[in-house]
Amino acid sequence: MAECKVYVTRRIPTPGTKLLSQHFKIDSYDSDEAIPHEVLVEALKAKQYDALYCMLTDIINTEVLDAAGPQLKIVATMSVGYEHIDLHECSQRNILVANTPGVSTDSVAELTVALLLMTARRLPEGVEAVKTGKWGDWKPHWLCGTELTGSTLGIYGLGRIGFNVGRRLKPFGFSKIFYTDVHEVSYAKDIDAEFIDFDGLIEKCDFICVCCNLTPQTQHMFNGETFKRMKNNAILINTGRGGVIKHDDLVEALKNGDITAAGLDVTEPEPLPKDHPLVLMNNCVILPHMGSNTWDSRNAMAEIAARNCIAAISGQTPEGQVLT
Ligand code: DGY
Repeated sequence: MAECKVYVTRRIPTPGTKLLSQHFKIDSYDSDEAIPHEVLVEALKAKQYDALYCMLTDIINTEVLDAAGPQLKIVATMSVGYEHIDLHECSQRNILVANTPGVSTDSVAELTVALLLMTARRLPEGVEAVKTGKWGDWKPHWLCGTELTGSTLGIYGLGRIGFNVGRRLKPFGFSKIFYTDVHEVSYAKDIDAEFIDFDGLIEKCDFICVCCNLTPQTQHMFNGETFKRMKNNAILINTGRGGVIKHDDLVEALKNGDITAAGLDVTEPEPLPKDHPLVLMNNCVILPHMGSNTWDSRNAMAEIAARNCIAAISGQTPEGQVLT
């Protein structure tokens, strides 16, 4: 068999490169930064690659697929999210699409819990106060936050990550856990979570964790109208995708007191400029999209994306195949 070729759009963790090198001749964009779109297009024109190993920052559209040519068998993204890939175009061209499900579930779920606690208990403001000498005498009203115990929790998207967020949060003693998804799921009973429609979720919950993908159905579901109907004491956490929330409307909702606070690990756009109004607000805690930033997750993500490429050239079904 002729040697297969893969183009890798970034420096990736060693386990991924090791695995790929056993089956492919590898060309890559030798940088920790995202490859510019035009550089990717030119790189793909240069050789006839069998596999494209990409990241969530790479827009895989018609232009990229045209440049890659008809021999391309797979677009394997080193991410769970795949909204950057034109699934329809890939399907028209019989190109497989695969992601890295499962291996970052724990790291993202852990971070979601951390972000919820940071936001509810105003931890960044406390840390800042200590660092800047604003820690004075004990005061009855200073930096008071919200307790989880006895509150209602809502999970928007009870997939792997949403379920594992619920599993970790359940021991905090919420009075009720609700979830909204496209349909009811049987495993929800393992965390005593009750299915509810979106209207119920936003109207009943004190904490809402957004754990869904970005799809046409979820895009901007949290907008000005939604915020007006949420509880004034509500805290919104997003570790899914930034596009689920309309950020200009969130600024207004946090300013007006429609909701109390927000904790975001994902934003629209990314990165969020440092002078964006949300960055300047005390009741908004923002992290730089670091849900899967653990060595365990990143090594496993690099490996599974490599295995997906290998499966595609071996005529097997990639374990992370996305249905197109
Ligand atoms: C994913 O895998 O899609 C994450 O958002 C990247 O950390």
